[in-house]
Amino acid sequence: MECLLCPAAILYILLCFGLPQSQGNNEFHDIKLKVSMNRALKQLLLEWDVSDDMKSSGSEVDTVFNIQIYRSEEHYIVVNENFTTKLSKSNQPLTWTWTSDVPLECLPHGVRIRSMVAFSKTWSKWTAWEIKDGMDFLDNGRSYIFPAYEVMEKGTSITMCCIGKRNELLRGYYFDRKTCWDTEQKRITFTEMNVPTSLYGGINVICIFDKPSENIGTSLYVTSKPDKPKNLHCETEDMTELKCTWDPGQIKNYANLDPAKCAANFTLSDVSNGQTYYTYQDECTSGKFRITGEQMRYHLRLTTQNCFGKEQTDVTVDVSHRSRLGPYAEQTNILDPGTTEP
Ligand SMILES: *[C@@H]1O[C@H](CO)[C@@H](O)[C@H](O)[C@H]1NC(C)=O
Ligand SMILES: *[C@@H]1O[C@H](CO)[C@@H](O)[C@H](O)[C@H]1NC(C)=O
Repeated sequence: MECLLCPAAILYILLCFGLPQSQGNNEFHDIKLKVSMNRALKQLLLEWDVSDDMKSSGSEVDTVFNIQIYRSEEHYIVVNENFTTKLSKSNQPLTWTWTSDVPLECLPHGVRIRSMVAFSKTWSKWTAWEIKDGMDFLDNGRSYIFPAYEVMEKGTSITMCCIGKRNELLRGYYFDRKTCWDTEQKRITFTEMNVPTSLYGGINVICIFDKPSENIGTSLYVTSKPDKPKNLHCETEDMTELKCTWDPGQIKNYANLDPAKCAANFTLSDVSNGQTYYTYQDECTSGKFRITGEQMRYHLRLTTQNCFGKEQTDVTVDVSHRSRLGPYAEQTNILDPGTTEP
């Protein structure tokens, strides 16, 4: 503490006790933040660089970067996260990617960042908000709806938007048999909660313009995870083939068997030896496979899976005995006496 005795006390206080908070912030001022968008992936890519001073002082200790992202307006913060790293000249610029659940064309997003050397307990000032609006990058000569197509899970919510081309104003939108009117504007962004299943392939969404001939629309495909298959039942008539049937419950893919539309598939496998006998890409309700004659007992599993989840059901089958087996007795086949006696 001898420096407190020095005449230039203020200077020495700075030197002895480290930079006070307001001064300490200065060295963090020049975080150079750059934000870019990948609109197809709905991603904001952050890239930032810090001053050389900070790089050399921060090489041994953790530096925390606090990242905030707002959507629409500053008071609506959707991201508040810390990113911790040890700084070095070689890890510059630092990068961080955020994936939005809302199309970047629908709302402006603002990004800012501040930093703190882990031991200092004092944040730097925020950078200015870096604002990105995906709409600004669209061709003005046509109208848009976002997302243009979506496979989504029943009961979830979705934020969409309509964007008018040059000189075309929107009046409202139509969503699943409901029309909503709004004041005339270039962009309408709306959120629909608890979206119902689309029974006949899709939920129609239409952007309504002043001139009806300008209306545009899309279809959302809404589905849910498959039902648990019921009544799995396997039997053999000739000891060479085992035939299984089941009730798939409500078929969720309707007429669309397209995996891109989240159609369910069915897999029949043997739990005892891990073998997969069949995979069905469609709404099959039966399948058969050859049996060897050596294996008498089968613990079979039917799994049905789509992009939102899977369900399974098991059955135990003994092809040599008529007796019922195991906890799945009620599902176990009663083999035809005439064909199973050796
Ligand atoms: C970020 O780190 C600071 C300091 O460790 C902590 O006080 C704050 O709660 C953290 N914020 C989040 C969102 O984790
Ligand atoms: C069944 O569907 C799921 C989900 O779409 C997929 O991940 C899986 O690979 C499919 N299985 C087969 C055997 O095609």
